[in-house]
Amino acid sequence: MSTTFQLDTSTSRANPTPQVMKRLTVPKIRARKVDGKTETPLVMLTAYTARQAQLLDAHCDILLVGDSLGQVIYGLPSTIPVTMEMMANHAAAVVRGSYHAVVVVDMPFGSYEASPQQAFNSAATLLKQSGAAAVKLEGGAAMAETVAFLSQRGIPVMGHVGLTPQAVNVLGGYAARGRNDYEAAKIVSDACALDQAGAFAIVVEGVVEPIAIDVTRQVSCPTIGIGASAQCDGQVLVTEDMLGMFERVPRFVKRYENIASVIEKAAATYAAEVHARAFPGDEQTYQPKD
Ligand code: KIV
Repeated sequence: MSTTFQLDTSTSRANPTPQVMKRLTVPKIRARKVDGKTETPLVMLTAYTARQAQLLDAHCDILLVGDSLGQVIYGLPSTIPVTMEMMANHAAAVVRGSYHAVVVVDMPFGSYEASPQQAFNSAATLLKQSGAAAVKLEGGAAMAETVAFLSQRGIPVMGHVGLTPQAVNVLGGYAARGRNDYEAAKIVSDACALDQAGAFAIVVEGVVEPIAIDVTRQVSCPTIGIGASAQCDGQVLVTEDMLGMFERVPRFVKRYENIASVIEKAAATYAAEVHARAFPGDEQTYQPKD
């Protein structure tokens, strides 16, 4: 039996040993919306590493291994070059570091669009290699057949409508979507198509608020907003954005911390102490035993 996604707490830095927690499931996430209402909004954050997952896990219903890791971790210009290998490896790390949240892994560009069969093969590979519980894919009505194909074959799918970053070359940028009637109606009908196809949740990204409200009212599964509306059934942010790792972030991001300045300050202090031969000090230096 494969143990590739077991965490060995005796050899890793998973300290203290995590408390025993029962992991949430996709049906439990789906069931949070009853008769069109979600009493307690769903909390989702991106995670790309085991340690990050450990820190976020207890606070989140869903950890998303987003293909935004292309930009955030790898410094790529967009999500287009992200590979299956990157997604599988980071998703496996996040599964190893979490015990409570449902882990959802993004399907990278080019791994699912050609046919439902291609999507099934890619999604099955991602789930087998990582231990994640579900995949997310971008696109609306054009992806409905694929969403149905996957979910009827044991692969839960989270949809993603509105601003879909993998379509940057078609959209021409990352501006908010749905600013004219045609586009607004298309986003709503895309979300309805995914819902009817069996998506267990739908990310609604970068849309004007009335569209997010309309989608949330019209679909039976939970919506998870990013740059959308507080009226969605849940919210997601890129963790590094909300931690303040980057100077430039979209307007919809709220910075809850300023981690970049903490890191810069620590690095500057370390460098000064190395230059002054003040580090390592006595406490960090081994001496021969008497
Ligand atoms: O890749 C990602 O991080 C995402 C979220 C922003 C929803 O798709």
